[in-house]
Amino acid sequence: MEILTGNNAGILTIEFNRPDKKNAITAAMYQSMADALQAAETDDAVRAILFVGKPEIFTAGNDLADFVANPPRTETSPVFQFLRQISQAGKPIVAAVSGAAVGIGTTMLMHCDLVYAADNARFSMPFAQLGLCPEAASSLLLPQIVGYQRAAEKLLLGEAFSAQEACQMGLVNRVVAADQLLEVAQQQAAKLAALPAASIRLTKRLMKGHQQEAIAAKIAEEGQHFRAMLSAPEAKEAFSAFFEKRKPDFTQFS
Ligand code: COA
Repeated sequence: MEILTGNNAGILTIEFNRPDKKNAITAAMYQSMADALQAAETDDAVRAILFVGKPEIFTAGNDLADFVANPPRTETSPVFQFLRQISQAGKPIVAAVSGAAVGIGTTMLMHCDLVYAADNARFSMPFAQLGLCPEAASSLLLPQIVGYQRAAEKLLLGEAFSAQEACQMGLVNRVVAADQLLEVAQQQAAKLAALPAASIRLTKRLMKGHQQEAIAAKIAEEGQHFRAMLSAPEAKEAFSAFFEKRKPDFTQFS
């Protein structure tokens, strides 16, 4: 099972479990997560959701090989189902990030309510580096969360940044020692689970509800470009370069 789920005392944990491929996410994994989030919405036994990876890797983002073999063709593709569920979730979501969080590994955090990072966490959104464009409404949410200039640096250059920087920017609530990350994140999720569920849901909806339509529209707009760009030559060059372990050459494209 490449996505593990389990409910413990009201906390639904969703765990990336594909360490040999750095937890890169396939369509099947998106589907599992979308299904788990959808089921959680109507399951009274779920009072908080916790995303975790492995100590050395959160996730390397979209599986690039699966993207080529099995590209998301429509808005009902698993990746878009996942984005719809996580962006519209009524229940509180906590994330515990250690190691690299690439692409959607970082953008999904903008839909979480509490984000804790280990001191070894590294965040990156290398969409332009891959000949692609932002997804998960990150082109809307990142400038809102961190300000335009910092968002531009992270989304245009796509370079990795540290847990400290992510925390200073407001993308992460707290940086903790790697060996304490899970415990801290679980404690925070347990606090949420112990509070009145209706108050938690309403508080979240009051903070985020007004943006729901704008977020859905941005996910759709980005998705349209993203799907087209996946089969463009720039992305093909970037993906080949990754698997051939070489630097991509974009100079041939205007
Ligand atoms: N898609 C598919 N396979 C991936 C992957 C991805 N996004 N990320 C890693 N892998 C695979 C590698 O191909 C490699 O497979 P192999 O052992 O069969 O050769 C294995 O996972 C280990 O990856 P490797 O690059 O050797 O690990 P690393 O520790 O040196 O680097 C990362 C880790 C995450 C920094 C690096 O793998 C990376 O940059 N991955 C691509 C991230 C990316 O561009 N994601 C897409 C965002 S839209």
